[in-house]
Amino acid sequence: MSTISYDESSRSWLIGLASSSYAFCVSDEGSLRHLHWGAPLGSGTVAALTRDCEGPALQRTRDLAWSKDAPDEYVGWGGMRYDEPTLKVTYADGDRGLDLSVAGHRIAEEDGAALLEIDLVDGDRLAVTLHYRAAHGFDVLERWATIRNTGVEEVDVRLAASASWWLPAYDGPWRLRYEHGGWGMEHRLGDVMLATPGKFTLESRRGMTGHQHTPWFTLDRDGAATEETGEVWSGQVAWSGSWKIVAERTAADRMHVAGGWNDFDLSYRLAVGQETALPVFAGLHTADGLGGASRAWHDWTRARVLPSIEVSESAPPRLRDAGPWRPVLYNSWEATAFDVTEEGQRALAERAAGIGVELFVVDDGWFPGRPSATGGLGDWRPDPQKFPNGLEPLIDRVHELGMGFGLWVEPEMVSRDSDLFRAHPDWAYRMGGREPVERRHQLMLNLARPDVADWVLETVDGLLARYDISFLKWDANRNIADAGWAGSDNPERLWVEHTRSLYRILDALRAAHPSVLIEGCAGGGARVDLGILGHVHQVSSSDNTEPSMRWDIHDGYSQAFPPGTTGTWVSDWPHYGLERPLPLAQRFHVAMAGALGVGGDLTRWSEEDLAEAAAHIERYKEIRPVVQGGRMHRHGEAWELVAADDSEVVVIAFWRDRPIGNHRPPVRLTGVDATARYRDDTSGTSYDGSLLREVGLTLPGADGFGFGSALLRLIKED
Ligand code: GLA
Repeated sequence: MSTISYDESSRSWLIGLASSSYAFCVSDEGSLRHLHWGAPLGSGTVAALTRDCEGPALQRTRDLAWSKDAPDEYVGWGGMRYDEPTLKVTYADGDRGLDLSVAGHRIAEEDGAALLEIDLVDGDRLAVTLHYRAAHGFDVLERWATIRNTGVEEVDVRLAASASWWLPAYDGPWRLRYEHGGWGMEHRLGDVMLATPGKFTLESRRGMTGHQHTPWFTLDRDGAATEETGEVWSGQVAWSGSWKIVAERTAADRMHVAGGWNDFDLSYRLAVGQETALPVFAGLHTADGLGGASRAWHDWTRARVLPSIEVSESAPPRLRDAGPWRPVLYNSWEATAFDVTEEGQRALAERAAGIGVELFVVDDGWFPGRPSATGGLGDWRPDPQKFPNGLEPLIDRVHELGMGFGLWVEPEMVSRDSDLFRAHPDWAYRMGGREPVERRHQLMLNLARPDVADWVLETVDGLLARYDISFLKWDANRNIADAGWAGSDNPERLWVEHTRSLYRILDALRAAHPSVLIEGCAGGGARVDLGILGHVHQVSSSDNTEPSMRWDIHDGYSQAFPPGTTGTWVSDWPHYGLERPLPLAQRFHVAMAGALGVGGDLTRWSEEDLAEAAAHIERYKEIRPVVQGGRMHRHGEAWELVAADDSEVVVIAFWRDRPIGNHRPPVRLTGVDATARYRDDTSGTSYDGSLLREVGLTLPGADGFGFGSALLRLIKED
């Protein structure tokens, strides 16, 4: 149970999480002073900490720094405040200073979590409520703020971070681990040592999360944490629009991380009485290394963030068989590109059904004006030439084959060459009279406009109502540019409202069609973050499914997100021009470390390939609960996935460029029970758990050379 307690004598709060504590107090000046985030504290210790915090040392540091450099929980910009603030506003009379003081607090129990709300006020003009939510059984603390205009004139919010996280005092270097990348190369890990005062900023100014960075980080002292050991602090901003995370080592040598909406070009005007809630900036502390941080994120995300998968009684039989797990899907994009026809899709569907696929997805190109990427976006109805009898005959055939039917849409976009654009040219983002920039021949709809958002919702809802659809792939192949909004006196709001509209639409679709699964995609992985995972069931983390590159993308993705939540396909080659013919087993094994999909052109696969594919898919169905719901231990080339009920362990390995004469060392399985025995369900070999932990498992094929892969299932014996 998480607990939140308040000690009146020291005016301090102590939040107890599963295996960590968080504490802060009211300082002499009336602001909120951070005290602790880390290993568990005993109750009664906070009062002592409070005295330390208010002692002469801090006062001296502050005097020397010529600033008000102190670990405040939430920093309204004003006075002698020079480190990264969390809130900056402009009042109607031009006043741009804030002086927030504590006005009250509430502790409550809500939906499996302990909740603390603290009210801060700047006189009678502005109120800020800080929210702290600690779900029972986890180490993740969710923090966010609500800002309310309590005055008599408009307030312009110019910077509003959700929270600032303070790390323990430490003189040595902190290692910041983060992600960077681009299209086809998402989720690369980068490390930077923050040893001296200064800032490191991660951000997106694109109105979308971006391929370039993920709103996630870890920090550890000296870079000493390993996969399984050492203290790690980690955070994620749950926001799919422009975001920013600033890791700052202050002049007084204290490390803190502020994050939330990006303040670049931000102006969010609050009318009198209006309030706005900022996105969650979640944080966690673990003593179990980088892998421990990942497992903590995965468990909590599955339990508290992801929408549940609901299968209706009337769903096609294969979807019912998949139950609460993500179905094995076939997607036609790589096979046909825009050349989608009823006949061609039927042929693929028949082959897909033959290898055990559960869901057949028609990708881009099914609507009119779409012979290529040059047009059609916005006209969400079947192309009468490609589907002369509508989509129904194909859907019926897919159902006859026992599979669910899925459809690709890109509803935030519009092509110039579309009926939608001809009817509503003003719906696309544009800046004054300037011609908006096209990317992939498309413009972006201003979803911040309620009428446009309503149209998008009605249109997609109409598709789901009209056709028997079990899966929606929601794509977005460009970012916001020309961020104008004709007729609005506060166009900068679009940076916030576009994403809010997207979330609202996705939620409304899920509410109206609870058994439809939604996959978020954005040119592969440009919208992968904790925010979107609250509104869709799975995401695409990349268009790149070449196994050796995908293994690295998996690795990066898995730092923050549960591995089974990303769709990943088995592709043919050339793959985006790359000729690397790797065996089917390797392509399957890597895709089986996520939510398995098949993307190759099945009409070109041999009977042997199809038979082998069927065997891999059957295997995936056996291990799926472990891949999608288990605990993961990363061992570089090998992943160990332990069933949630500890009944089995799945090991998936991928090797590349092993030299001739290579001998890969055994993999020590850190998640197995040392007192149990495990049986390889294929070879029948039985292993002692302590041996697997201490000596390790030699994987079949580990002594090969070049590329290779392995997949094992070890069942715990009674
Ligand atoms: C994006 C997606 C692909 C595919 C194409 C279709 O690139 O990531 O999977 O759907 O769009 O145009």
